Amino acid sequence: LNYHVPRTRREILEILLKGLRRLEYRGYDSADDKSANAKSIQLIKQRGKVKVLDEEINKQQDIDLDVEFDVHLGIAHTRWATHGEPSPVNSHPHRSDKNNEFIVIHNGIITNYKDLRKFLESKGYEFESETDTETIAKLVKYMYDNRENDDINFATLVERVTQQLEGAFALVFKSVHYPGEAVGTRRGSPLLMGVRSDHKLSADQIPVLYRSCMKMGCNSLPRLDQDTCLFPVDEKAVEYYFASDASAVIEHTNRVIFLEDDDVAAVMEGRLSIHRIKRRAGDYPARAIQTLQMELQQIMKGNYSSFMQKEIFEQPESVVNTMRGRVNFDNNTVTLGGLKDHIKEIQRCRRLIVIACGTSYHAGVATRQVLEELTELPVMVELASDFLDRNTPVFRDDVCFFISQSGETADSLMALRYCKKRGALTVGITNTVGSSISRETDCGVHINAGPEIGVASTKAYTSQFVALIMFALLMCDDRISIQPRRREIIQGLRVLPDLIKEVLSLDDEIQKLATELYQQKSVLIMGRGYHYATCLEGALKIKEITYMHSEGILAGELKHGPLALVDKLMPVIMIIMRDHTYTKCQNALQQVVARQGRPILICDRDDHETIKNSSRTIKVPHCVDCLQGILSVIPLQLLSFHLAVLRGYDVFFYKNVVKAVSVV
Ligand code: G6P
Repeated sequence: LNYHVPRTRREILEILLKGLRRLEYRGYDSADDKSANAKSIQLIKQRGKVKVLDEEINKQQDIDLDVEFDVHLGIAHTRWATHGEPSPVNSHPHRSDKNNEFIVIHNGIITNYKDLRKFLESKGYEFESETDTETIAKLVKYMYDNRENDDINFATLVERVTQQLEGAFALVFKSVHYPGEAVGTRRGSPLLMGVRSDHKLSADQIPVLYRSCMKMGCNSLPRLDQDTCLFPVDEKAVEYYFASDASAVIEHTNRVIFLEDDDVAAVMEGRLSIHRIKRRAGDYPARAIQTLQMELQQIMKGNYSSFMQKEIFEQPESVVNTMRGRVNFDNNTVTLGGLKDHIKEIQRCRRLIVIACGTSYHAGVATRQVLEELTELPVMVELASDFLDRNTPVFRDDVCFFISQSGETADSLMALRYCKKRGALTVGITNTVGSSISRETDCGVHINAGPEIGVASTKAYTSQFVALIMFALLMCDDRISIQPRRREIIQGLRVLPDLIKEVLSLDDEIQKLATELYQQKSVLIMGRGYHYATCLEGALKIKEITYMHSEGILAGELKHGPLALVDKLMPVIMIIMRDHTYTKCQNALQQVVARQGRPILICDRDDHETIKNSSRTIKVPHCVDCLQGILSVIPLQLLSFHLAVLRGYDVFFYKNVVKAVSVV
């Protein structure tokens, strides 16, 4: 929303489309866009990628793209279908009626929408889509038409609507009844505001509270009361952006306000006010404006064909960034600023519970053994959804870790709230500063891997892995008996970036292997110990982006069923490293060979014995056992990438897989 920043419609549409393109990594499957002048609202929707929407806009004969506006508001949305198939009619914005009196965009899911829809239908509202979101658009009109006082402001109206909603949402509203105004609110789904102003923001960037607003004579603003904070930029030029992710706004401004659950943010006449729907004890109604350090080029894909490929190749640097300023290789110490006030309490706990989804869960599986070894605590590694389904007992002396690249995964977030309620200490391991998980946990570690845009997680996995290792090292830094082992691991971390580079240099070889495999229906990946997680993660990568069936199999379980799948036709990848499971892995290899399987081995390049006995090997450098899983997973990241390309898939857009799953 621009205020006293003259912009042509073309520029405004370009800002919206660019924002959508930045959010496309979320894997959404339909896009729509709306740009409106103050008095009427025009909707443009298309199914598919943002490009299709762009073309559609250019086809519109009756839109004058060169007309300039001093005050203008446009909203745009890309959708991942939860209710209703991907189609223009199911795309957002949804509208209250044919005149577009109210329109809304929504990220999340409304769980009571059926009841709301039934109610609204009984009042004569006709629905055009199958979505849960449309009920919100109709409900706001219903509330407006039945308002008891004529000058109800937009923020209050939105607040009343949200009181009827159950589920998770981030919403942005616009209405012909409130020209030039926008209202956004959230509960459970992320929403932030970008603020761009020529006006110099005050040093500490804290918006002033109600009382100072009143002094400035801003009493015409929506719903100013004790719970409202106001961001008073002067009335020169200002532009506000609502977005679910900073990458959509970063090229316009790096000043953002992360909205909290139950905040209602209203923009009107160049001013922003933020009001709390439910004021809780201890709530501080002011919202700080943060300056993000994210660079635009960080979120661009450079010379790589896809973000996924770029991120795989970034791993030598991203793991360094995870360790930067934290691991001192000269005196073998680890410092984690985000944990320092809590580490003593963590050391006294009775168990560690690591909770996550998808790839982040695999990072927990990968490091469980070293966590157990170095902390000497029982460690549970849990899938967030299952953890919740089981109503898992959690106690005050438990420490619960939440690993999440995005920090927004709904299942992980719900598990976090569940554990907090039971009094456990909560620790976040996330890649996204300001995300819900990083804000709601008691303490944590940012993995600092840089923005991960590829839907299939790669560099976040290796950085989560390193972050968990650093935590394990910190937990035992004063235990004398364990020092030689600590030193061994820390020195392993020192050489890790170079070893990762060596693994990445196998890319051509792995691409060749992909040409042998890409027409297969299925791939089995077997390993044990430190490499079981690699099997799970490799199989997930292959499933996610190549649509081939793939299964990660614990080699110790081979004889309990999976061996039945092995024959001379079934592609099998086996991970055999020279650690304490080596002999057992050799036994598994023999069992596979005995069934005429011809496994492809990922093995230690110095393991001449294994190499001699196998025709197909991917030879990776050797490192300390508990870090070897970082080196064994990278060939599988590369393999899945090449398989996807060879199978003709767009490595940026996947069916049914999204980057951040904000629904449960
Ligand atoms: C989705 C993504 C996965 C990711 C998982 C957890 O399913 O497709 O790649 O691992 O969410 O995401 P998080 O952001 O919590 O790590």
